Amino acid sequence: MASLNTALCLGVCMFAWIISTADMNTVPTAENVRWVSLDFKTILLWSAKEPDHKFTVWYSVDDENWQESPDCINVSELECDLTNDLQPFDRIYTADIRTDIMDYDYTTDEPPHTYSSHFNPYKESNISAVKFTVKSVDKTRVIVNITDPLTSIHIGQRQLSIRDIFLNDLQYKIIYYKAGSTGKKTITSNSSVAEVPKLDEGQGYCFMVAAFIPSRPQNTKLGAWSEQSCTHGDPGIGTDLSLGAWVGAIFVLLTVLIIIITVTVLCCRRRQERNTGFQTSQSSTPI
Ligand SMILES: *[C@@H]1O[C@H](CO)[C@@H](O)[C@H](O)[C@H]1NC(C)=O
Ligand SMILES: *[C@@H]1O[C@H](CO)[C@@H](O)[C@H](O)[C@H]1NC(C)=O
Ligand SMILES: *[C@@H]1O[C@H](CO)[C@@H](O)[C@H](O)[C@H]1NC(C)=O
Ligand SMILES: *[C@@H]1O[C@H](CO)[C@@H](O)[C@H](O)[C@H]1NC(C)=O
Repeated sequence: MASLNTALCLGVCMFAWIISTADMNTVPTAENVRWVSLDFKTILLWSAKEPDHKFTVWYSVDDENWQESPDCINVSELECDLTNDLQPFDRIYTADIRTDIMDYDYTTDEPPHTYSSHFNPYKESNISAVKFTVKSVDKTRVIVNITDPLTSIHIGQRQLSIRDIFLNDLQYKIIYYKAGSTGKKTITSNSSVAEVPKLDEGQGYCFMVAAFIPSRPQNTKLGAWSEQSCTHGDPGIGTDLSLGAWVGAIFVLLTVLIIIITVTVLCCRRRQERNTGFQTSQSSTPI
């Protein structure tokens, strides 16, 4: 009798469970939830099987203090910009995408929803490629001057760079090699202005730079690699011609060109004059 009771109870429970899941299944929840983050601009993306549903995005810090993202309440888009919500940066955030349903009793039932994976902007936001200049100090040393990429974070009017956020955690990896050679050397610099010493005199070198954050997990330590920038190997001039030098060179070339043209024009005119003079005198004096 007891076993029959248990079986009956189990059956009813199963039935109730099947009905409740079937019910839940009719409400589309967000799927394929993922974080995309570059230079601290962080966007949550998802997809939905049926269109015309609205979503509200909630988020929590360390799984506590759940709150709505003010810009992502009842939105029909399948994305939410959480850039300004995920601060402080070095915390673990979770988002919860709730499907908005009419007449839903949010106080007693759990709404249809999907959790995101954990995300820590400080450790996981991708860092874009940097811009830098290379300037020679003397025949065997150059200064690599790196511009810290700007983030999407503003404090008042000021837009923060990655240096403002990472501070001393930010380093740069610099790869360099002789133009035309395959042997690469790497140095790590903890400053945005780095000196590369012991270069071969009179050689052209190519440089590439990437942000490097040693405190991060292995797969996010390195930012994107920059484009390469090369110096010329001319031992006389040393390295990169500055803008001033280029302007100077072009000015000199133009001057020379103008002089040549002027002289040519003057010469031609002289000769023409002499020729016509000769012809006139010839025709006017019959032999
Ligand atoms: C960072 O970039 C990698 C490589 O492009 C990508 O696979 C990853 O999803 C990106 N991470 C974030 C958080 O955007
Ligand atoms: C969002 O949608 C829900 C359900 O349709 C509704 O109860 C709520 O008032 C809406 N909120 C806003 C801010 O429009
Ligand atoms: C690096 O570049 C910045 C701006 O491009 C400049 O203000 C700064 O003086 C440069 N530093 C060095 C050491 O060349
Ligand atoms: C940067 O590197 C230099 C030389 O490697 C070291 O002396 C200095 O303490 C470092 N600074 C920081 C802030 O780590």
